[in-house]
This record gives sequence, C-alpha cells and structure tokens, in this order.
Amino acid sequence: MSKSSAKTAYLCSACGADYPKWFGQCPACKEWGTLSEFRVTKTRGESRNPRETSDLQEILLQQPMVRFSTRMEEVDRVLGGGFLKGSLILLGGNPGIGKSTLALQIVAGAKVSSLYISAEESEDQIALRARRLKITTKDLQLSSENQIERILEQIHLLKPEMVIVDSIQTIFSDTVDSLPGSISQIRECGQQLLQTCKQRGVTVLIVGHVTKEGIIAGPRMLEHMVDTVLYLEGDERYDHRILRSVKNRFGATNEVGIFRMVNEGLKEVTNPSELFLAERTDNVPGSAIYPSLEGTRPILVEVQALVSNANFGTPQRNVNGFDLRRLSMLLAVLEKRLRMVMGTRDVFVNLVGGLKVDDPAADMAVICAVASSALDKVIPPDVVLIGEVGLAGEVRSVSNIAKRLQEAKTLGFRRAVIPKGSVNHLKSALKGIQLQPVTAVREVFDALF
Ligand SMILES: Nc1ncnc2c1ncn2[C@@H]1O[C@H](COP(=O)(O)OP(=O)(O)OP(=O)(O)O)[C@@H](O)[C@H]1O
Ligand SMILES: [Mg+2]
Repeated sequence: MSKSSAKTAYLCSACGADYPKWFGQCPACKEWGTLSEFRVTKTRGESRNPRETSDLQEILLQQPMVRFSTRMEEVDRVLGGGFLKGSLILLGGNPGIGKSTLALQIVAGAKVSSLYISAEESEDQIALRARRLKITTKDLQLSSENQIERILEQIHLLKPEMVIVDSIQTIFSDTVDSLPGSISQIRECGQQLLQTCKQRGVTVLIVGHVTKEGIIAGPRMLEHMVDTVLYLEGDERYDHRILRSVKNRFGATNEVGIFRMVNEGLKEVTNPSELFLAERTDNVPGSAIYPSLEGTRPILVEVQALVSNANFGTPQRNVNGFDLRRLSMLLAVLEKRLRMVMGTRDVFVNLVGGLKVDDPAADMAVICAVASSALDKVIPPDVVLIGEVGLAGEVRSVSNIAKRLQEAKTLGFRRAVIPKGSVNHLKSALKGIQLQPVTAVREVFDALF
C-alpha cells in the first residue's frame, strides 16, 4: 500500500531554492519577490515491518562485493578498483569539460549491458560522439527520456547492469511542481535513483554540472546521497583533464586519474610527470621541481616564480595552483628569517600545467623558486625539493617521501633536498639519487645558491 501526502513549499524562480515558509527576499540568492508557492506531493513506498532486520553474516555470504573494470586504468584506480555493483556515483564537472565523453567511454569499457539516458542531447548526437570515440559496444541502449518515473520504468524493462543519467539537471519528476534543475527536483530524482540503485543492484552514474563557484549546481545534497563523488577537472588552456574522487565509500579518496582530451576522446596518461615537465626550460632562475603526491601517485611538477620590483604602492601577489595565504607566509619567512626584501616586490607563482596542490610539502619548492628569481640564480636542473617550511624557517618532515623520491629518480633527477626528519622514514636506501637532508631553509639556500 502506498500513501500520498501533500505539503506547501515556496520556490525561488531565480535560483531554484525551496523553503517551507515564504520570504520577501530569497535567503540564498538575495533576490526580492522571487518566491512563489507550490505543492509537493510525495508518494511513500510500503512501510517495512519493524521486526524485519538482516543478519550481517548472511548478507556477506550471499553478496560478495562484485566490482567491474572500466578497462581504463586511470578510472579504475580512482574508483578503488572499478565500479562496485549497485553503487551510485556522481560525476561532476564544468560545462564542456568532457563528462559525457568520459561517461560514454566508461560504459563502452565496462562491457556490461547499459542504458544511457541523455535528456540533454539527442540520441543522434550521442551516436555521433560514439562514432568519433570509435565505440563499438553492442550492449548499449540510448534513451532521451527526461521524466524520472518513465526512466525507472525503462530500467525495469531493460534490466541493464549500468545506467548513466546525463545529466541530473535535465530530468524531472511529475510529483514535484518545479522546473528541472531546481533543488527540489534534483533531490526527488536523486532519491528515486538511489532507491532503484539499491533495490535492483544496478550501478548508476549521475552526471551533474558544476557552477562557476565549484558547486554542483543545486545538488550539494546529492553528495551525501551517493556512494562516490567524482570530479572531472581541467583548465581551458591545457588539453589534459584530471579525474578526482572527493568522496568514496568503497575506496580511497584523493586518488587522481589523468587524461588528455584528443579527437578520439579521453586518452589515459600513464606517465603524468613527463606531461607536466614536457615544456620545462632549464637554466632559468625561478624554476624548481616538486614531487607532489596525488592520492597514492607521485607526480613531478614545476613551480615557477617571478619576483620583480613593484611599480605601484601595494605589491602584487599572484598565484596559480597554490594557496595564496601559504605563499604570504613563505614570503614573510623569506623577509624575517632570511633577510630578503619582499615588501616592495611583486611576486608571481605558478604551478605549471594547471595542477592544484594543497600539500605543505610543496613549501620548499615554492620558497626556493621565489628566492631563485629574487636572487637571479638558477636552481640546478637535476634537483628536486621537498619539505614543509615552518614559521621559524625550519624544514619539517613530510609524508610518503620514498614514493616521491622514487618518481624523481625514475625521471632522471640526481639530487633531492629533503627534511632531515623524513630520512628515518626511508626504509631502503635509494640508489642513484643523492639525498641532502636539511633542517632549515637557510641550509638549502647555502647549498643551492
Ligand atoms: N573533435 C574533437 N576533438 C577534440 N576534442 C573534442 C572534439 N569534440 C569535442 N571535443 C572536446 O570535448 C569537449 C566536450 O565534451 P563533452 O560533451 O563530453 O563535455 P560535457 O562535460 O559533457 O559538456 P556539457 O556540459 O555540454 O554536457 C569539448 O570541450 C572539447 O574539449
Ligand atoms: Mg554532456
């Protein structure tokens, strides 16, 4: 037996937010007079017997974890070893970044019966893309349905193992009185997909658009609902794309997959360090190499800095891929502890290749790149720099030093400046790379310049 209930809510026509009571000004987007009344009807499913519980051991015996590979190593690693059967995944990203391309490549690689719901593009457009990506899978059905109830019916009839919903912002439910893409529609459609996903054991990949502010438009609540949240990121200036997992109930987060966008779709980049160091120019002051760690994977990145005399009153600090406040802290350390004048100089820092790093281990490469530019002295091209810099100008230990050094060695770097505190973490001696343990930034400068 199912019950129906109706309640009144107020929807903002400007931003799509909904509220249980009326406001003159929308609390979310601050527009005036945009809230109007609508009725939400909810259909509740059959209620369960309160005595009905399940025994963990029985479930474990019945349902071993089944994962299927997407045959794209970069995607599998980000997911923690392929898609888990019956999981709900959200794939977010800026418009035009390549979400539909990746989704299509994933279903083609997974080689399971799939249903691709594209309310955004026509079936012909998807087919055109499939031809460009050279996708020949036989087990893929396309649908341009955009009403959730009918989508669920299609899933019921076709019984696919995997469903792609491209995108959540274009589908709607008849039970909710608002436009597709509004918060209440996304919540309702997400909930219905979640139910189907868990009841039928079908894997569902939901595509969602991200707004300029970096939030998946509206459905922040979708992040709590789903098992895994993936973001496809990139920079318009470069053709590489980074797939990042920010939430994963069945695997590690902060893993990244790196791709290049070419005519045939997203191509996996098996050696990202080579990609990020490809256009490096040796013998230029202001360049330092930092072995970053993205999830479990080391990637060498070039840090570039340019220091010049400020023409106007307040000197500029401009940074790409690194935290601006962290840079200010490092500049203060240079000024106070190393007696380098920074207050009257513009400082620009750039992590080449559009990679964004949020790791204190990058401090040493950044501070050395800035000093190298300020002093107009080159850092030897075969050196990598690792270490967190403290306020007293001391160098602190960092995580996973062995992995970072191994990658540097593989790419032909011969010297590494590392924190003294991290030496103990190196279990086996690394042959072929000379280590220079340091305790303070001053020692690094003495060695380099
Ligand atoms: N022939 C081509 N050669 C190379 N790259 C292409 C080609 N056609 C499209 N692309 C790339 O694919 C991107 C669009 O991919 P896709 O449609 O998968 O993105 P999306 O994130 O799904 O976009 P939307 O937000 O519109 O749904 C383009 O921005 C472009 O970079
Ligand atoms: Mg798309």
